[in-house]
Amino acid sequence: MTGLPIGSSILTYDSIESTNDLAKHYLESGSDEGLLIFAEQQTQGRGRLGRQWVSLPGLGMYFSFILRPELSPEKLPLLTLMAGLALVSTISAYCPQNTKVKWPNDVLIYGKKVCGILCELCTSGSKPGIVVGIGINVNHTQDHFPTEIKSLATSIALEKSDSINRTELLSSLILSLNREYLSLQSEGGESRLLKNWSKHTNLWGRHVSLTKAGTVYSGKATRLDSFGNLIIRDESGQETAFNGGEVSFRKDSNF
Ligand code: BTN
Repeated sequence: MTGLPIGSSILTYDSIESTNDLAKHYLESGSDEGLLIFAEQQTQGRGRLGRQWVSLPGLGMYFSFILRPELSPEKLPLLTLMAGLALVSTISAYCPQNTKVKWPNDVLIYGKKVCGILCELCTSGSKPGIVVGIGINVNHTQDHFPTEIKSLATSIALEKSDSINRTELLSSLILSLNREYLSLQSEGGESRLLKNWSKHTNLWGRHVSLTKAGTVYSGKATRLDSFGNLIIRDESGQETAFNGGEVSFRKDSNF
């Protein structure tokens, strides 16, 4: 026992459908904050926007944990940023060059996705809470990725040209997640998170397209607001705050 919330108890499985689904079940049954579910393989791993998260055995890391934070509902998106900051800090220790967070929930190395976060709010059951699900490409080679994402995905091992000890990576990650979670809930935590997250992205000043509910918005990514929304300034100088969506870099971007 470390006295730290996240990972205060850990359940591991060889193969389950989805660690998020199982964590949700535990959350709804009243389990304590911090319970972490880890699977060697998922048969129905889920990503954002209804996508599949291919979860091959023994290669990646697939885990979810329960949080019951003291945060007002409109501030809950900060938890995705909190997890992203913990991940980018840990993965940077393996791949210092060009490991960045991409709003709202990805970690990229040289522009390719190495990690995704899926946060789900659960209001049914006795105590509401959040499930934070994390999928990391760790020891994958290019051949392990489905054809349609080969050019978009990478793994830590591919970028480091060395295989990675997943147990060590998980321990560092749990420490980092606890550090960021406790920091978020302490004095000044929200603005510290937004500031630190912002230092680990290469979004600012870039020309982006944001797709939300089938509509595409374009402009320059300028900053996050206090809720973790992404602010985009269009050609007329009008700023809009987005609380979700899929960001892509425009080809005419100079960066
Ligand atoms: C995304 O980038 O779209 C988010 C991917 C999240 C995948 C993880 S793997 C562990 C957890 N269980 C799931 O079913 N999904 C998340």
